[in-house]
Amino acid sequence: APITTPDISTCIPSEQGFNVQDSVRSNQCCPPMMTTTPKDFVFPKDNAIRVRPAAHRATPEYVAKYKAAIQAMRDLPDEHPHSFVQQAKIHCAYCNGGYTQVASGYADKQLQIHNSWLFFPFHRWYLYFYERILGKLIDDPTFALPYWNWDNPAGMSFPAFFETDGKRNPVFDAFRNVNHVSPEVVVDLDYNGSDSGAPCLQQISTNLAAMYKQMVSNATDPLSFFGGEFRAGDDPFGNSDPSVGSIEAGCHTAMHRWTGNPRMPNNEDMGNFYSAGYDPAFYVHHANVDRMWKVWKDLGIKGHNEPTDPDWLNASYVFYDENEELVRVYNKDCVQIENLKYDFELSPLPWLKNRP
Ligand code: C2O
Repeated sequence: APITTPDISTCIPSEQGFNVQDSVRSNQCCPPMMTTTPKDFVFPKDNAIRVRPAAHRATPEYVAKYKAAIQAMRDLPDEHPHSFVQQAKIHCAYCNGGYTQVASGYADKQLQIHNSWLFFPFHRWYLYFYERILGKLIDDPTFALPYWNWDNPAGMSFPAFFETDGKRNPVFDAFRNVNHVSPEVVVDLDYNGSDSGAPCLQQISTNLAAMYKQMVSNATDPLSFFGGEFRAGDDPFGNSDPSVGSIEAGCHTAMHRWTGNPRMPNNEDMGNFYSAGYDPAFYVHHANVDRMWKVWKDLGIKGHNEPTDPDWLNASYVFYDENEELVRVYNKDCVQIENLKYDFELSPLPWLKNRP
């Protein structure tokens, strides 16, 4: 049977669930209980497609709009389902033991959306609602999230708008690795906790080779790209731990660790599941992870398809949408992004030529 997110009233407060030691962000990750019965998701009827721009090419006008939207989100009271804090807590609830698999009859098993084939679809839905909430806050039905284009040399540094204006900047976050946020520092898509010390050009070619591996040579079929099967009754921490998809295990995790502050007790914010959503960079990073799914499929290589197993298609999550309605969404409904009315601005794929 598929993983089914339970009624949000079953969300477990952290003291009883998976606790994070010495946390600097709240450990209380349950959503506001405005209602407990989710509605069925309805596809958006927007006239326009929201086109996500590459962060490094974003115009000053666009950046001002993006910052205004994040500021509006920060200005909401914390209990509001659209607030900055509640949006961050969604990640914590789905990753740090907020939910069990009780809806499928396994109250003793945790629901975990990482390290398996739930990774891409869960994060696609999470960003989908986050983006629409931001657009609504600034009354712009075409608003789209920027994507951090770390797979392209032009985007291989921390997007400058996150740091300019320092602390007055709504997309600034105090918990980042100060050695990495300068526009001169090239990202390390293989980052494992210590700086490679490689000169820029060499780091760029290592990054391109990593991308080729994770998008082509090590991602030849649905399970190697999306991650291993994870069904109702499976234990995310047991011996049957599913395999992690190539992008999730690779550049995705590397960029989390690279951005988080290693001096914080849990590498906050980006370096830990429970705190990652407090850094606006999280969503911009994940916009590119989401883009990788589309790019991988569009490469048109044999084997590059979504899983067809009903337990993948019918796995579901629950979110508050842009109208503060609680909705249940299924993996199968996020496969075609045209139906979700967003797309990505084109950017070259230089790693495609980097076959080792
Ligand atoms: Cu849910 Cu990038 O992690």
